[in-house]
Amino acid sequence: MKFAALVGCLVASCMAAGTAMAQQAQPIVIKFSHVVSPDTPKGKAAERFKALAEERTKGRVKVEVYPNSQLYKDKEEMEALQLGAVQMLAPSLAKFGPLGIKDFEVFDLPFIFGSKDVLRSVTEGPVGTGMLKKLEGKGLMGLAYWDNGFKIMSSNKPLHKPEDFKGQKMRIQSSKVLDAQMRALGALPQVMAFSEVYQALQTGVVDGTENPPSNMFTQKMHEVQKHATLSNHGYLGYAVIVNKKFWEGLPADLRATLEGAMNESTRFANAIAQTENDEGLATMKASGKTEFYALTAAERDLWVKALLPVHKDMEARVGKELMQAIYKEAEKLGFKY
Ligand code: LMR
Repeated sequence: MKFAALVGCLVASCMAAGTAMAQQAQPIVIKFSHVVSPDTPKGKAAERFKALAEERTKGRVKVEVYPNSQLYKDKEEMEALQLGAVQMLAPSLAKFGPLGIKDFEVFDLPFIFGSKDVLRSVTEGPVGTGMLKKLEGKGLMGLAYWDNGFKIMSSNKPLHKPEDFKGQKMRIQSSKVLDAQMRALGALPQVMAFSEVYQALQTGVVDGTENPPSNMFTQKMHEVQKHATLSNHGYLGYAVIVNKKFWEGLPADLRATLEGAMNESTRFANAIAQTENDEGLATMKASGKTEFYALTAAERDLWVKALLPVHKDMEARVGKELMQAIYKEAEKLGFKY
């Protein structure tokens, strides 16, 4: 080989090595978009995942968390994930119905989970795992379930009995089960993105809504709602999901490290959720802006009576077998409908 050619080769291989090093130095970016405040169970768990993932991959992965619908609103974030514009989300379980996976709306059924234990035995058992598997047909993968908590109802008028809902315009997530739930109470459900709820309540576009206290508080909804009822009538939780192609394309060692970080973030999310809700509720109560009402046993019975028929009505949509499987888990834990 001539001297000039040899030098040329050396320069070329040096440049290639340099490019490879530069490429290696570039971290893989995971954009994690969500619609709630950083100060919620989901917001805090997303930050925990970021910290663990970045530390354990020694900077090979960078997690960018975008809270408060900064990037996308509810429906758009699903599309963005499928297109690969973001890599990770934690939408509420209600938000999978519009994607065509109606089974997830089972989580929206009023009074289906008698307790967190029942919920946990569903999400951590074969029922929950089987549901996450269904996401794969949509180009997604489910990594975990994260808790928020049980929901309360709010409005500008007291909601003690089912008949108090008559004619109330209530904001809901886009779920046919939640629609049926509000109609069973005589309310007029209105689907709306989470980021628009505060203003809609403030301007009277809707009269009320349902939320776990942590969401109500961090969105300042208590400033624009005079009354709330501690009904715990339904559950709000999340599935952490990723773009399947992206996730499967990660180097195996990195993916394993990230899965470990996710498992730990899940334990964290589920450990703090109740406290976050309790604290949010206590702060709202102390502010005196919303009056919080605890149902009497007799009133609760009326709610249950009005809402349990929603299970039967929605059976064809969410799946009878799935509902039976959940009832069975509940009964194993001593819960009776
Ligand atoms: C809602 O839209 O009410 C919730 O899904 C928001 C959330 O993610 O907690």
